[in-house]
Amino acid sequence: MTTLSNDPVRALAHTNIALIKYWGKKDEQLIIPYTSSLSLTLDQFYTETSVRFDQSLSADKVEIDGAAVSGKSWQRVHDFLTVVRQLAGINAAAEVISLNHVPIAAGLASSASAFAALAAAASRAAGLQLASKDLSRLARRGSGSACRSIFGGFVEWQRGHDDTDSYASPLQQTGLKDISVIALTVESKPKSISSREGMNRSVTTSPYYPTWVNVAQNDLVDIKLAIAANDFTKFGTISELNAMRMHALTLSAAPDFMYFNGETLTAMNLVKRLRHQGIECYYTIDAGPNVKVICQQANKPQIVDAFTKLLGPKRVTTLKAGPGVQYL
Ligand code: DP6
Repeated sequence: MTTLSNDPVRALAHTNIALIKYWGKKDEQLIIPYTSSLSLTLDQFYTETSVRFDQSLSADKVEIDGAAVSGKSWQRVHDFLTVVRQLAGINAAAEVISLNHVPIAAGLASSASAFAALAAAASRAAGLQLASKDLSRLARRGSGSACRSIFGGFVEWQRGHDDTDSYASPLQQTGLKDISVIALTVESKPKSISSREGMNRSVTTSPYYPTWVNVAQNDLVDIKLAIAANDFTKFGTISELNAMRMHALTLSAAPDFMYFNGETLTAMNLVKRLRHQGIECYYTIDAGPNVKVICQQANKPQIVDAFTKLLGPKRVTTLKAGPGVQYL
């Protein structure tokens, strides 16, 4: 049995925005996706987590953003810690303290930064020294998108077949270094249908799901070519299309559901209007109403200006590529 130090281990991970979306699990238990995906790790929205295993604790203690956590959220962290304990061969309970610098459950993918930071802190606190590939596999067990937040910049999650070969790695293709992401906070309330529930319903009821699996694969090939060729127009066009193809699965599920609200549509229309005026930008949207606008550095000031007029300065955040997981 590993001898544990009682000192907490602290780690920080940034969230990521998927440009080719992960939407649907082949294995719900191990979180193995039907499709590979591609994301950009961002430089501002992040989670900081400290973990300490302690034999004298009777149960896992979890605090998120200053409040003790119970119920479903506690269970999810507890289940994840159980995976870590099994891996490390320990049985002590843990104290987890986590701080999010990102609005929770507002489509800003906070589960990605949360489970990436938790995987990093918990594995090391349990005495494990995981290679980044294995850290990515572990983070995936908490939340699929978290496996991509282990790395910075453009990241590809290879769907694989099982627990051993489903993990993320930094994209080989270099190119499109000056991508900016303008995050629009359309609504910061928790979403009504979690991505977990939403993707399950899409897989089991949308007649278009098998088509999505084929199309998403082609989208991934094409976007990698666009990145390698430094072709922003192709990159943005594929990102926007892929996002809409994912949302078409929610509209075609039974019962149908939708992550957009009125402001989401207004923001999408403004992106299209700017594009028609020659200010090149594209949108992508995750499982919530918030919109991320993708552009290049040169057009950023005009786009920020247009959205600030629409939403006010507090709801417009400018981001760029960010780093992978870090120990503090
Ligand atoms: C729309 O990673 O939150 O953001 O694996 O069930 O925890 P679970 O889902 P999660 O889903 C992310 C969905 C998405 C697309 C993406 O990030 O690729």
